Amino acid sequence: CVTEGSDETGSRTLLNRIYTDLYITEGWSEEVSTQHEVKQVVLTNGVAGVGKTFSVQKFTLDWAEGLENQDVSVVVLLSFRELNLIRDEQHSLLTLLHVFHPTLQKLPAEQLAVCKLLFIFDGLDESRLSLDFNNSQLVSDVTQKSSVNVLLTNLIRGNLLPSALIWITSRPAAANQIPPSCVSRVTEVRGFTDAQKEEYFRKRFSDEELSSRIISHIKTSRSLHIMCGIPVFCWITATVLENMLTSEQRGELPKTMTDMYSHFLLVQTKRKKNKYHGEHARTSQELLKADRELLLKLGRLAFEHLEKGNIMFYQEDLEQCGLDVTEASVYSGVCTEIFKRENLIFQKPVYCFVHLSIQEFLAAVYMFYCFTNRNTEVRILQQNYSEPSLEDFMKRILEKSLSSENGHLDLFVCFLHGLSVESNQRLLGCVSVQTENSPETIHRVIKNLKEMNSNKISPERSINIFHCCLEIKDISVHEEIQQFLKSDNRSEKKLSEIQCSALAYMLQMSENVLEELDLKKYNTSEEGCLRLIPALRNCKKWSDCGSLASVPGWLQCSFTPSAQE
Ligand SMILES: *[C@@H]1O[C@H](CO)[C@@H](O)[C@H](O)[C@H]1NC(C)=O
Ligand SMILES: *[C@@H]1O[C@H](CO)[C@@H](O)[C@H](O)[C@H]1NC(C)=O
Ligand SMILES: *[C@@H]1O[C@H](CO)[C@@H](O)[C@H](O)[C@H]1NC(C)=O
Ligand SMILES: *[C@@H]1O[C@H](CO)[C@@H](O)[C@H](O)[C@H]1NC(C)=O
Repeated sequence: CVTEGSDETGSRTLLNRIYTDLYITEGWSEEVSTQHEVKQVVLTNGVAGVGKTFSVQKFTLDWAEGLENQDVSVVVLLSFRELNLIRDEQHSLLTLLHVFHPTLQKLPAEQLAVCKLLFIFDGLDESRLSLDFNNSQLVSDVTQKSSVNVLLTNLIRGNLLPSALIWITSRPAAANQIPPSCVSRVTEVRGFTDAQKEEYFRKRFSDEELSSRIISHIKTSRSLHIMCGIPVFCWITATVLENMLTSEQRGELPKTMTDMYSHFLLVQTKRKKNKYHGEHARTSQELLKADRELLLKLGRLAFEHLEKGNIMFYQEDLEQCGLDVTEASVYSGVCTEIFKRENLIFQKPVYCFVHLSIQEFLAAVYMFYCFTNRNTEVRILQQNYSEPSLEDFMKRILEKSLSSENGHLDLFVCFLHGLSVESNQRLLGCVSVQTENSPETIHRVIKNLKEMNSNKISPERSINIFHCCLEIKDISVHEEIQQFLKSDNRSEKKLSEIQCSALAYMLQMSENVLEELDLKKYNTSEEGCLRLIPALRNCKKWSDCGSLASVPGWLQCSFTPSAQE
């Protein structure tokens, strides 16, 4: 059984009933294909919410049901989320397994080494362990105690249980924690194809008319349609549109991520209130005030921990932000209690947002609130600002996010741009305030985005600048590139850097694999050419534009096999 979202709202469903196949591609890195002694480590990349966790769960279920991979005798599924909770403890590999999978106590240590084991480590991006592959501490015995970091690096390097298979999933930005020399295969979860998107909505709603209406709305908005390639976004979309289409509520249906998450928050708070306070509903004024306070507390929790990279919170963390545990889970539906089971390590209840993207959204709401209220108490991303203008504020935060190594602020910064749009502020009226961003101000923010210099930033990460444009509802770049793709005389148009990022994104997301991508054919600066590189993931053959020699190592994870031609 799985839940999409929280236990409170989404009821538990059989994984097999809702699982929709995902589009997964395979590549390999040149470096490792020549090393035959390499450990069997598969690294699966995929952006947030693309279905990595569902994939490993489905894999495990199929194995357990005797359908697939029956040559494997034991599958051990561990999430970094859970491993974080014991990161300061000393364990042997054996005791670590027993902590998470008590059933394995029946398996003697000697047998571990001889049976065919598969370890699945899910969510490397959520890891708070510092995996140090340079550390020379050798652990080769499953009963030898050490820190969790050291156990994992030894397991991945093949010092410990050399014949065990390892499968690691990660968001792309965090994948470089695993040295390429340890990886024998790289795959990427690309999310849903167009047909799979429809299948998802049809499976979800028994009401065919409703699923058809939702599908047709999604098709009218190019950006929604693209984003529905990401399953978690389909879930949020389904929740929001079901609510809007089946209630009396009229008004424009959401078109951007920020629109959608804002509505999602409203739907969730409304649903909770109806459920728990139907009898003695308070006046709307009171409700507004209560909502606003709760959302800001949740936002503060989200923000303070996002900065530190924390996604799991203890009761003390909640209390520090003034959150009452019952209030948080009952009211909002965005924070849920997990790990209720009591055992040696999980004596305390642990909380988290139902999805990291929700934490990122609430953090942005909070940050925007602090900015508009000139809340001087809050140091914005470790810096002391004294009343900067909106465009300076946005620019500084974008720079900050681009300089983060693991991209942990990427989605946050997109949402922040989305929140500066007036319609979203109106929607979240309870949290945002009397800001009046003049069209000129917004125009300057957009101009900054288009001129953003990303010299030292990886081309993959630069695409986020284009996403920020979409969130702030500037679709000009998107339209220019659509026009460009239709034209025959492509080299006549000189592409700006942001246009290159947009083009790279659109080519990369396209379901049509390109036969050949000749970067030299594009009329752009060297910087622009670099920004096109992500498109190489989706082509069979490529030619460079002279600057590829300087491309850092991350690129090797991106090639499709035939790209090596
Ligand atoms: C490990 O060693 C390599 C090569 O000496 C170095 O480039 C890298 O920064 C080191 N990594 C850590 C985490 O110390
Ligand atoms: C932040 O800036 C304000 C205004 O310039 C100043 O009064 C305050 O002392 C500064 N705070 C810190 C922690 O530097
Ligand atoms: C491409 O050609 C078309 C038709 O010949 C022309 O209208 C258009 O301006 C050209 N585009 C560029 C960028 O030169
Ligand atoms: C590149 O674009 C510029 C401006 O649109 C144009 O003047 C130039 O001729 C183009 N270069 C090539 C090689 O087509």
